[in-house]
Amino acid sequence: MLRTPNKRFLGVKAGVINCDLGMSKLFDIELERLTGQPSYSGAVRGAAAGQGGTFFLETFGCQMNDHDSEKVAGVLLSRGYRQVETPDAASLILYNTCSIREKAAQKVFSRLGEYREKQSEGKIIGVLGCVAQQEGEDIFKRAPWVSLVCGSASYSKLPEMISQLEAGNQRVTGLDTDTDETFETEVTRRDNPWRAYLTIIEGCDKACSYCVVPYTRGPERSRASDSILREVRQLAELGYSEVQLLGQTVNSYADPTARKMRFSELLLAVADVQGIRRVRFTTSHPSDFTPDIVEAIERQPKICDHVHLPVQSGSTRVLRTMQRTYSREEYLEKIAMMRGANRPIAITTDIIVGFPGETESDFEETISLLEEVRYTGLFAFKYSPRPNTPSLSMNDAIPEEEKGRRLAVVQEKQREIQAAGNAEMAGQTFEVLVSGKSRREYQWSGYTTSHRMISFASQERELLGTYVQVRVTGAGPNSLVGEHAV
Ligand code: 5AD
Ligand code: SF4
Repeated sequence: MLRTPNKRFLGVKAGVINCDLGMSKLFDIELERLTGQPSYSGAVRGAAAGQGGTFFLETFGCQMNDHDSEKVAGVLLSRGYRQVETPDAASLILYNTCSIREKAAQKVFSRLGEYREKQSEGKIIGVLGCVAQQEGEDIFKRAPWVSLVCGSASYSKLPEMISQLEAGNQRVTGLDTDTDETFETEVTRRDNPWRAYLTIIEGCDKACSYCVVPYTRGPERSRASDSILREVRQLAELGYSEVQLLGQTVNSYADPTARKMRFSELLLAVADVQGIRRVRFTTSHPSDFTPDIVEAIERQPKICDHVHLPVQSGSTRVLRTMQRTYSREEYLEKIAMMRGANRPIAITTDIIVGFPGETESDFEETISLLEEVRYTGLFAFKYSPRPNTPSLSMNDAIPEEEKGRRLAVVQEKQREIQAAGNAEMAGQTFEVLVSGKSRREYQWSGYTTSHRMISFASQERELLGTYVQVRVTGAGPNSLVGEHAV
């Protein structure tokens, strides 16, 4: 489910909003909506007030990280802090980090280096998320100007840690992963005023041999279904019409309450909440992708017709060494199940190229799988060896250059597939939730239920947050353009 900020993603774009509201304005409106109180801006209180009480929060990585940051911001705002847009303006500088691939982790350390001087100006610097969990107290050695190191499995203790920092403690850590708690907050500062992210399951109990997530995010913990549904009702009352349920393996959801709701039942219950028009979910694990999920999509049009189902490789042999718990054939059965649904379902995936021992013929099986499934979008990655993972010690590493070649072949193949798939959409009309307004007049953008982004023209003055019908007039491999069908 990890979203890449890089350009490797072909097709479905991340939920970036490009609208005319400035960040702080958006954010103040948001707070008023969340709390029913006037904006906190200027209302700094407590120990933080003496120090300026401002925070800057930068997020790297996936949607789970984005949403964790929204919750961290909620914790700080409810303590009277104010969010600012530059580290210079902040008394507390926080980085919510990603360590899924080596490059992501390096980026964090180079960013921390840039802020070395800031500590001497009295600023507090904190590292959150996966790099914090992975590197632990070593961060203090590598970057002694850091005061807070907190992994995502310890976020529920964040208010306590912030109190310790406010009390003048110079080194505060939260690094436990043996928790059965999920991170729930009373106030979450959501970035997008129409689509709300909602984590329903944290951590991961799978053990893919290349992946750091089980180490950095800890074991699987599902949130109680009644608490999820309560939050969805609140979100609907606040005007959100789309919710996106999040989890590293969202469909492994196991309700800890006596109600024992299945994931598909939860999808239906969320869709039943008055005011909710769209329910999304990501990321699904193929092994837990059961027929009742497809039946729920068939039964309830509010459940979006898009499934992100990472395959990683088209070769059963490589899948085994990756410890992915399914074969190529079993994966293709899940695809056939979706293709047999009574309405089309857009399917996207993740691919890793150059896993240790991946032969040319294994790689060709990945290419033939792409041809067979014809995904509407994919993220492709070069295999990156990660600390603690079993694949770190595997032989037959693939040279970087060869990984690069394979990546380019995957991308070119997918480009062809998407160009053909998108061209077929020309002339069709889709419902779009408008989330972007271009600086060019009368140009808007938004997402279809299948999570395709469309840029379109409309003479309307205000469309943000509304649902409109858009006819597709043109298509490229990565984009659709259209016009408002009135
Ligand atoms: N190297 C390359 N890609 C990885 N991913 C996870 N771990 C690694 C790694 N060590 C990719 C997988 C996963 C996505 C979120 O990131 O494709 O589905
Ligand atoms: Fe990582 Fe595998 Fe868990 Fe996904 S399912 S988070 S790839 S261990």
